[in-house]
Amino acid sequence: MTTTATTPPRPRAAIAAKTLRTDRWWLAPLLTVLGLVAWVTYATVRVFQQDNYWVDKYHYLTPFYSPCVSHGCVKASSEFGQFLPDHPLLPYAALTLPFLLLFRLTCYYYRKAYYRSFWLSPPACAVPDGHKNYKGETKFPLLGQNLHRYFFYAAVAISLINTWDAVVAMHSPDGFGFGLGNVVLWVNVIALWAYTASCHSCRHIMGGRLKHFSKHPVRYRAWSFVSKLNTRHMGLAWTTLATLALTDFYVMAVAAKWITDFRFVG
Ligand code: FES
Repeated sequence: MTTTATTPPRPRAAIAAKTLRTDRWWLAPLLTVLGLVAWVTYATVRVFQQDNYWVDKYHYLTPFYSPCVSHGCVKASSEFGQFLPDHPLLPYAALTLPFLLLFRLTCYYYRKAYYRSFWLSPPACAVPDGHKNYKGETKFPLLGQNLHRYFFYAAVAISLINTWDAVVAMHSPDGFGFGLGNVVLWVNVIALWAYTASCHSCRHIMGGRLKHFSKHPVRYRAWSFVSKLNTRHMGLAWTTLATLALTDFYVMAVAAKWITDFRFVG
């Protein structure tokens, strides 16, 4: 019988420097912090403003107030009824906003973004972690990240509501209408669907747990399509933040009469 001697692991090189990287590795985390802080600040102000969210003439509703289910909403903007109390600290779309927030917070891309940029855990490849202990997502509260797939279902339902908003917005006082606001709303809805469909949970729903793709051609096609979108998930995450803010700003600007909507029809 022969025995093989196990080689003891080599100790890590004693390097005094925190990192040997000399490039601008800190730029991406810094831009991420600036971008996310700016977006969250804008969204928070708008969500609690409870004004300039609806253009009655064209039925434009900003996505930050959709669905408008508070007793404080303009009646015509409440396609899904009014059942939440009107309170200055309760957003008009309080039914859906928490799910959207949780969907984004638990998103695989945003997790990477805020783990790196806010928690410095680690801030970049080959740069040490800002913390001594690393427990990953195995303990509370980060264990909750595993609920992402359920928030995905909520996000699909909310995307359907946003799509309905875009449909009913094709309106003018004479009936059908179409203006620049409709283009803005539809671009936002398409971007939201692309982001939602590119979700890693969606990819798993489409093609996960299958042994033979050849026996499930429809799921294979869906999985292939979602996989292509999935490679652009980070870009879509940022694109939708931009389209959401721009759509809200456009609706606010028309509602506040800072600008008039450019009309193609009606
Ligand atoms: Fe980003 Fe699901 S992984 S939305």
